Amino acid sequence: MKRKVFQVKTNKNEEIAAAADVLRSGGLVAFPTETVYGLGADASNAQAVNRIFIAKGRPTDHPLIVHIGKKENLNVWSSNIPSRAWLLAEHFWPGPLTLILRKADWVPEVVTGGLNTIGLRVPAHPLALSLLKSLGGGIAAPSANRFGRVSPTTSNHVREELGDCVDFILDGGACSVGIESTIVDLSSGSPVILRPGGVTQESLEEVLGEPVVQRKNSKVRCSGRHSVHYSPDVRVVLAEEEKVDEVISRFLSDNFRVGLMSSKRLSKKINDVTFIDLAATIKDQAQQLYAKLRMADTLNLDILVVVPPVGSGLEVAINDRLVRAAGQRDEKLRKDIL
Ligand code: TXA
Ligand code: MG
Repeated sequence: MKRKVFQVKTNKNEEIAAAADVLRSGGLVAFPTETVYGLGADASNAQAVNRIFIAKGRPTDHPLIVHIGKKENLNVWSSNIPSRAWLLAEHFWPGPLTLILRKADWVPEVVTGGLNTIGLRVPAHPLALSLLKSLGGGIAAPSANRFGRVSPTTSNHVREELGDCVDFILDGGACSVGIESTIVDLSSGSPVILRPGGVTQESLEEVLGEPVVQRKNSKVRCSGRHSVHYSPDVRVVLAEEEKVDEVISRFLSDNFRVGLMSSKRLSKKINDVTFIDLAATIKDQAQQLYAKLRMADTLNLDILVVVPPVGSGLEVAINDRLVRAAGQRDEKLRKDIL
């Protein structure tokens, strides 16, 4: 199959139709969503979906999200749909929310990693919606990065990571949300957040009129739940604002090349480090986070010290990603330093 990369800023029908044809013939199409770029296959084609796992190097028991064009299609992909699901779909779709529901019997097991539940969402990006409409089906798509790596928020990131394995890349510019969807499990009674993301806990609770809890340790094989994930090459160390100077001094005294990623030029040592400005507003921080982690990898640093934002909205999702970017390596360093 011929590989093509299209720069599509508006909905050009022929290009979308060509991408849909690639999906129909079992190929992989990377496409923009409002959260991150997805690596898509026709969700009804088990063989095509299998190619996603190979391209990403992802274990096959990790379930995928199926993207659908409209909420009415929930009935096609899932069964026993609770009223909460319709309520959330009504409020947040198209948008950065994935609902975990009982899967319909016909859905290939490879999509759900053998689970009897399925993750579904309607993405809020015009290109994704046009592609879904043109295909007339569902697109199984994880983030278009290699397993464990930082998710792509531009088509160039996709090309860098998966250029050899993808048949077609649709370019819709930089993703507007920048971090992945919030995943809410509705398959067993009360709603549980499996992954914080673009829709906050507060807004879910407001719509549902009931508490929504965050699950800390999911038993489900949830790729974004691994303790080292969303990981750049550079070693990431998290530091609270008050500890930044202490942490940086320690690394500088070991002759490390140190980067500081933060929303303010916090440190007295600012002239001895490479400063990466993590935007002023929380929305911009989310939108730019992954691109900046990728950028940090190009700066020849030994250590990237990151000051995570403090707060209970989008901050929760950003913190979640940063803790995973730092991974267990950070826990060891914390013991060493603090
Ligand atoms: O924003 C997003 O959600 C992006 C865009 C492309 O839509 N997709 C994304 O996919 O982040 P991925 O595969 O990187 O992460 C999806 C997460 C995984 O951690 C997976 O385990 C979880 O969703 N998931 C999918 N189906 C599930 C299920 N039935 N039960 C529990 N978790 C599930
Ligand atoms: Mg991912």
